[in-house]
Order: sequence, then structure tokens, then C-alpha cells
Amino acid sequence: MNTICKCVLSQVLLYFCLSGCSHIPDNDRNTTKELQFIRENIDFIAQQTTLMLETTGAPTGKNYPRSMNDAGQLVTTGMYDWTPGFFPGSLWYLYELTGDSVWKDKAEQWTQTLEPLKTFTGHHDLGFMMYCSYGNANRLAPKPEYKDILLQSAYSLASRFSEETGCIKSWNHRVAWDGETEWFYPVIIDNMMNLEMLFFGAKTSGDKRLYDIAVTHANTTLQHHFREDFSSYHVVDYDTVTGVVKHRATCQGFSDNSTWSRGQAWAIYGYTMMYRETKDAQYLDAAVNLAAYYLSHLPEDLIPYWDFNAGEAGYTPDKDSYATQYWEKPKDVSAAAVVCAAFFDLATYTHRSEYTDKAIQMLHNLSSEKYRAELGKNAHFILMHSVGSIPHISEIDKPLVYADYYFLESLVKYTAFLRNFTSL
Ligand code: GLY
Repeated sequence: MNTICKCVLSQVLLYFCLSGCSHIPDNDRNTTKELQFIRENIDFIAQQTTLMLETTGAPTGKNYPRSMNDAGQLVTTGMYDWTPGFFPGSLWYLYELTGDSVWKDKAEQWTQTLEPLKTFTGHHDLGFMMYCSYGNANRLAPKPEYKDILLQSAYSLASRFSEETGCIKSWNHRVAWDGETEWFYPVIIDNMMNLEMLFFGAKTSGDKRLYDIAVTHANTTLQHHFREDFSSYHVVDYDTVTGVVKHRATCQGFSDNSTWSRGQAWAIYGYTMMYRETKDAQYLDAAVNLAAYYLSHLPEDLIPYWDFNAGEAGYTPDKDSYATQYWEKPKDVSAAAVVCAAFFDLATYTHRSEYTDKAIQMLHNLSSEKYRAELGKNAHFILMHSVGSIPHISEIDKPLVYADYYFLESLVKYTAFLRNFTSL
């Protein structure tokens, strides 16, 4: 059983010992109440995930849970999609939160089917695919081969870096929503998330090149991906020879000049992680500024709409984007879950409790019946009401496996927070 699990259990036991006592300080009452809140979430998630596993059956390499269709049925993907690492990652977090080896066994099975991806170089998402799965496996139940697989994955990702642009190419050539503009070196803000695996590779192998690629990518992105108010562009396309920026646009947001909520969330998480890995203050400043933009554009319940500018004057989608026809404003729970997880870390690095306060509020709101599913519903995902991509008419107001993954990560981080700050 790992340290966090032992700690949760001991504190829950302590709660039951203390619950008859009338002299518990307010602080400790609050801690025990919050541990109960976490426990209730874990119990629900364990039951819901058991049902999910009954639906999927054993991992085949082609049945990674991703979302739900309009008929309420589970949608799965093959391993070359960007999302297969999240379900194994969620199983690892469940193991971390419970200490129950049943989850470890399942997590191992679902992780190990991803091994062929270690040499995959078709897009930039290898960090999501391998670090959420094998990264957590290596952290929680290491085996010698995990390090090699992660290192190989880091080199596969690094193969998409070019000196000319100073960044990793997210996608291969594609045409923009206007139907004409061609992107030859598109880099999306999401790419910041994939850099964490390069730092792991650098530490494991001692190869500084992997570290330098991560830092160079983050610096190039800092230079070109943000407006003065630290709102983010989704896509920046570079000239492959000169490295000059050719286009700033969107693929999954409302319009080229709007701010896609999940993109902003990836940026907040990404620069917070960059600070953790490098201790370079410019990254912490960036994370703080990106978070300030995000927080100032939230509705009261702290769960963002899918794009911060959808439907506002001055923002017009390109002709081929379905956003031209979609005028509702669904929330995107996945963005909230990503930011919630990032804010626990941002609070630690900035020593500013406002981020923890917000993260705890977000966690409680996500756990409310407005956003957390009923047992047996929601195709057995945990959270409802995320948005995959409105421009692509895909996964609108649906559960998403990565919303669940970052929700679980937030529960792990909140548990650690309570452990560190409790006086019990
Ligand atoms: N990385 C793809 C997405 O956030 O939808």
C-alpha cells in the first residue's frame, strides 16, 4: 500500500475514532469532512468503473473507453487515437486512492496493451498516450521494462521536433476550416502536455537533448501562442524552413481569434508542469497569467463554457466549421477537471491558497449531481457534460475519458493536500 493510501485510511479511521468527541478543532473537523467527501467519490468511482470494465471486457488494443454516443452507449477507440492512455491512467489513480490490488491488476493489463505505441511517431500525443498509462505505472508499481518503454516513447515524440521551428509538430499537414489554408507545421497548445514525458526521458537517460527540446518547445510556444491578455490560440502554424509563424487559428474552438476553454486549460497545466521541471520563474509567471485569464472568464459554478468567446460579437467561425451552426453554449467539464488538477500544483509553487480554494470548489461542484453521473448511467463514465469538438460535430455535451482522468488526479492531489496540511 503506498503512502497516500495509508494516510487516507489512517485518517478515515481517525475520523471514526474522533467522531464521538466534542473537542475536535474546526480545522480537523473540516479535514475529516473532506476526507469523507473524497471517500464517497472513491466508492462511487470504484462501482462505476467496475461496471465500465464489465462493458469493455478485457483489453484488446482496440477497446479503450473514450465517450458515449447519442444512444447512451460506450464509444471506444483503438490505440492510435490520442486518448487510450487515460483509461489505464484512471485505473492507476484508483489503485493509488484505494490501495486495492484489484485496480493494480486491471491497470497493468490496460497499460501493457499500449506497448507497441513506443515507436509511434504519427502525431504529438504520445505524452498523453504513454505518460498517463506507463508513467503512472512506473510511479506506482515499477517494472524494469517500463522505463525503457517510456524512454523509447520520449525519443519517438522528440523525433517530431525541428530546430528551424523550435517546436514539436503536433499534427501532420492539414487544411484549415476555411477550406483553403494549408498547415504544414501545425502546433497546438495541447502539445504542452506531452512535454512531461521528455523530462522523464532526460532524467532517466541523462540525455540533455530531451530536456532542451521540451524547454525550447515551451519557449517558442510562450512567444507565439498567447495574446497580450494571456488568452491562447489553439493552433499556430510555422514555416518549416524559416520557422516564421504563418497562421494563428483554431481547430476545436469557436473561431480563430477566440479562446477555446480546454486549450487554455492545457496551457495552465503545461506551464505549471514546466515550472516544476525547470524552476524557471518565467513559466510560473505564465501559468499565473493564464490562470488569471481563465478565472476571470468563468461562470459562477467555475465550470467553463466550451469556448470563452462563443457567440460574442467580433468572433466568427470559418465556413466549414460546424460552430457556424451551433449557437448553444454547452459547458466543458473536461477543461474544469484539467485546471482543477493543475491548481493544486500551482498553489504549491506560488504559495497562494487562492488556487487551492478554487480547486476545492471546482472538485465539489464537479462531484455534485449537476456534473457527476448516477451509478450505472453515463455509459459508466464518472463525469457528464464535456465537449470533444463542436466544429467537428463530435462529442458535444458528452462524457469524456480525459475529464474522468483529471478528476481522479485532482482527488489524488487533494488527498495529498489534506495529508500535508492537517494537524491531526
Ligand atoms: N488534445 C485534444 C483535445 O483536447 O481535444
